[in-house]
Amino acid sequence: MKSTLVNLLCLLFFTGVVVGLKLLEIRVDKYAIRGGSTVLECIFDLQGEALYSVKWYKDGAEFYRFTPRDNPSAQMFPVPGIHVKLEASNETHVMLRSLGINSTGRYRCEVSGEAPSFQTVSDHRDMLTIQLPEQGPRIDGGQPRYQVGDYVRLNCTSGPSKPAAMLTWYINGDQANDSLLIGPRIQSIGPYLEETALGLHFRVERQHFRNGDLKLKCLASIATVYWNSNEESVEGDRPQRPPVLEVKDNQPHTSRADMVQVPSGQQNIELYSNLILILMLMMLINFS
Ligand SMILES: *[C@@H]1O[C@H](CO)[C@@H](O)[C@H](O)[C@H]1NC(C)=O
Ligand SMILES: *[C@@H]1O[C@H](CO)[C@@H](O)[C@H](O)[C@H]1NC(C)=O
Ligand SMILES: *[C@@H]1O[C@H](CO)[C@@H](O)[C@H](O)[C@H]1NC(C)=O
Ligand SMILES: *[C@@H]1O[C@H](CO)[C@@H](O)[C@H](O)[C@H]1NC(C)=O
Repeated sequence: MKSTLVNLLCLLFFTGVVVGLKLLEIRVDKYAIRGGSTVLECIFDLQGEALYSVKWYKDGAEFYRFTPRDNPSAQMFPVPGIHVKLEASNETHVMLRSLGINSTGRYRCEVSGEAPSFQTVSDHRDMLTIQLPEQGPRIDGGQPRYQVGDYVRLNCTSGPSKPAAMLTWYINGDQANDSLLIGPRIQSIGPYLEETALGLHFRVERQHFRNGDLKLKCLASIATVYWNSNEESVEGDRPQRPPVLEVKDNQPHTSRADMVQVPSGQQNIELYSNLILILMLMMLINFS
């Protein structure tokens, strides 16, 4: 009897015959923003069968059930982190509002057909709720001006977030070598937020100045949700002329440019070293 059933299932499997309802697609945002809302979608094909129920579970706990024969047909059950907006939900769409850190989890949709088959299909997706930092990354320890031979010792600190932000340093647009980085250090802030700090230490070389400017950027990112909007730029004293790196001998020094002794000790370099700290973060919230 049992082997007959197995044979039948094998036959169905190998001949590609599909009977009854099919779960076509389940769509759940991989990342959702805390405080926001999201729509869970469960797309199925009844293939002629009648729908008995659609059930939604978070981490195994049922929070929404749609049964067309019942009145009302939609029901919800209390589950931590779940607030269903009933009027915006139906058999294929469930809207969750007021997402919290507790909304992170595995969401399963289970669709059942009516008698006589009572066929049930289900699938799941994971969602991570992200608490965005309230401010962009902060850069500490910068001086308004740097000269060749100076040491740059900066810290970049992200605003508290969940999960912790990832920080990346850029020197003139190029990602800084790992050997120049201190950290990252991740610190807990309150019960569930985290703050990331990443130091950047290096000795200023002549090639670091592009047209007299040294640009240092710290970028904070969380998963595929990037940040933007804050752009800060701090400049040193601007000399009278446009800032350029020049090699000069025996020129009168009328500007406020700094005199720098080249390490090789052969030449004087008149260096207009403006530091421009660019603090940038990109907020391209990517709702998939
Ligand atoms: C369920 O709700 C979604 C979104 O509001 C809507 O697009 C869809 O047509 C609805 N489905 C049914 C069967 O009412
Ligand atoms: C998450 O849910 C638990 C109960 O399961 C609750 O005690 C806690 O306060 C909730 N945390 C947040 C951040 O909502
Ligand atoms: C950078 O962070 C380190 C470690 O937390 C600290 O010792 C140092 O003083 C900080 N430097 C600046 C410039 O804030
Ligand atoms: C970074 O590392 C690469 C090799 O890993 C090296 O070629 C390059 O010079 C380094 N750059 C800096 C600024 O140290």
